[in-house]
Amino acid sequence: MNDILLMLPGPTTVHPRVLNAMSKAVVNHRGAKYGEILSETTELMSKVFQTPNKSYLLTGSGTAAMEAGVANTVAPGEKILNVVGGKFGERLMKISQTHGIETKELEVEWGTAVDPKLIAEALDEDEDIKAVTVVHNETSTGVAAPIEEIGKVMKNYDTLYIVDTVSSLAGDEVNVEKFGIDVCFTGSQKCLAAPPGMAAITLSDDAWAAVDKVETNTFYLDLKAARKSGDKAVPETPYTPSVSLTYAMNEALKMVMEEGLDARIARHHKAAKASVAAVKALGLELFADEAVSSATVTAVKMPEGITDADFRGTTRDKYGVELAGGQDHLKGNIFRIGHMGNVSYKELTQTFAAIGMTLKGLGVTDDAGAGVASIAESYL
Ligand SMILES: Cc1ncc(COP(=O)(O)O)c(C=O)c1O
Repeated sequence: MNDILLMLPGPTTVHPRVLNAMSKAVVNHRGAKYGEILSETTELMSKVFQTPNKSYLLTGSGTAAMEAGVANTVAPGEKILNVVGGKFGERLMKISQTHGIETKELEVEWGTAVDPKLIAEALDEDEDIKAVTVVHNETSTGVAAPIEEIGKVMKNYDTLYIVDTVSSLAGDEVNVEKFGIDVCFTGSQKCLAAPPGMAAITLSDDAWAAVDKVETNTFYLDLKAARKSGDKAVPETPYTPSVSLTYAMNEALKMVMEEGLDARIARHHKAAKASVAAVKALGLELFADEAVSSATVTAVKMPEGITDADFRGTTRDKYGVELAGGQDHLKGNIFRIGHMGNVSYKELTQTFAAIGMTLKGLGVTDDAGAGVASIAESYL
């Protein structure tokens, strides 16, 4: 058992029930047994996406689904609008460029959320934009985009709405049907709390119509192939799937349903609120605009004069809590607390004890327990 507490924005701690599920015998991936588990798992996935449409599993990390979602729906030479307010918005733009798609960037200051009106303006200015990509939960900055509001805007346009919910699905409100999302995808290792290595994707009828017109330049991630295999009477995947990870996803999704999707999302929001309060109680500053701060990850400015190695090295090596650092230009300037998956006051108490003791050891605060006290108050 790993005695380091993972408070990362993925991978997250995997429950023993899910780990045990992976120890089941590996079966023929072209047989009835696998077909049964696959169809049960994808049906559960659609429930979590909150869509009547089918979902498909991809063996690969979240980035595989990002690439599948873009490269199958927009053809080389067509235009896409990428909302970029952090590392993952940027990645969707780079993926688009890799596939020869003409990109238009809607730049958003890191730490803030996009204003849906700016998306409407961009679409009014250029009728040729075929799709818009939005990252719901920008894990690099700890910001949640207003995907429901953007969805209302998107209903006025004949443009596909592609939403990355890799670090938000099952931790924040994602209602694919209600929000009018055309392409939605997620990863296994975040709020679903399964091990890394699987992704899931769902498409609307409009998105499938686009897929049927686009001659995709991906082979492994060809969604026509995924649909053809996945829609067989005994469902399959086009190529050998990770059978063991399918078991894990199945068990993790059952745990989501047992908890109840709404209850799970409320638990994540509570953890986010408690984390924000504890950060402030320790005298630290949030990186993200608090009005749009994420339900699943809290980004915090690194205290003046403290290095990332000193801070995160101490929380991990001395106190057993693994936090995430900043990415790109935020490296060394922020740290991130992932509170996704199986997280409640117990994990947050340990986390804020580690942060408080580390800060005291580094001479940043006198009150090592202020964060823990705040967590206790939040959960009373
Ligand atoms: C919002 C978001 N999108 C996409 C990804 C990419 O997922 P993966 O690292 O599983 O490829 C991540 C991973 O952190 C993410 O947080």
